Amino acid sequence: MKILGISGSLRKGSFNTALLRACGPLMPQGAELEIGSIAGIPLYDGDVEAAQGIPAVVESLKRKIIQADGLLLVTPEYNNSMPGVLKNAVDWLSRPPADIAKVFGGRPVALMGASPGGFGTILSQNAWLAVLRTLGTRTWFGGKMMVSRAGGVFNEGGELTDATIRAQVQKYLAGFVAFIQG
Ligand SMILES: Cc1cc2nc3c(=O)[nH]c(=O)nc-3n(C[C@H](O)[C@H](O)[C@H](O)COP(=O)(O)O)c2cc1C
Repeated sequence: MKILGISGSLRKGSFNTALLRACGPLMPQGAELEIGSIAGIPLYDGDVEAAQGIPAVVESLKRKIIQADGLLLVTPEYNNSMPGVLKNAVDWLSRPPADIAKVFGGRPVALMGASPGGFGTILSQNAWLAVLRTLGTRTWFGGKMMVSRAGGVFNEGGELTDATIRAQVQKYLAGFVAFIQG
C-alpha cells in the first residue's frame, strides 16, 4: 500500500511540507508514504501544451499518482482558498482530459493542512472539494486533519513535536488507509 503525498507549498520552511514529512513515520503498518513535489511545474499555458505537450515534470508526477493507492494533499490556505501553485499543478495533472479518469478517477484522496492562524486551512480544504469532485476522485470524509497555530507545533528543524497533533495525524492516516483497503 503506497500513499503519494504532495505539499502545496514551495518554501523550504513550509509548515505543510513539514506536516507531510511527519506523516512518513506515522503511517500504519503495511503502508508507506512517498513524497511527491510540485516544484518546477510551470504555469499552465494552453499554447505551451499545444506546442510541446505535457511537461516532463508533470508527466512524472502523473505517473507517481497512477502508481499510488491513494493521494494525500497537504494544502496551505491562501486568501481563504487553495494556493494557486497547487491548483496550477492539479490543473496540469488534469491534462489531457482523456487521462483524468486514469490519474484521478476513483482515486482515494485525503486532505490535510497547516496554518499559523486559528482555522487550520478549513476554507482551503473546503475549496478543494469542488475540484476533487470535478476530477472524479474518491475523497475520504471520515476524518479531518487541520493544524492550527502551526508555529507552536513544529520545532525549528521542522519536526512535529506536539504529541496531541502527532496522535491525530496517526489516527487520520490509519483511517485513510483503512478507507482505501475497505
Ligand atoms: C497570499 C497569502 C494568503 C494567505 N491567506 C491565508 C488565509 O486565508 N488563511 C490562513 O490561515 N493563512 C493564510 N496565509 C498564511 C499562510 O497560512 C502561511 O503563510 C503558511 O505558513 C503557508 O503555508 P506553508 O508554511 O506551508 O508555506 C496566507 C499567506 C499568503 C502568502
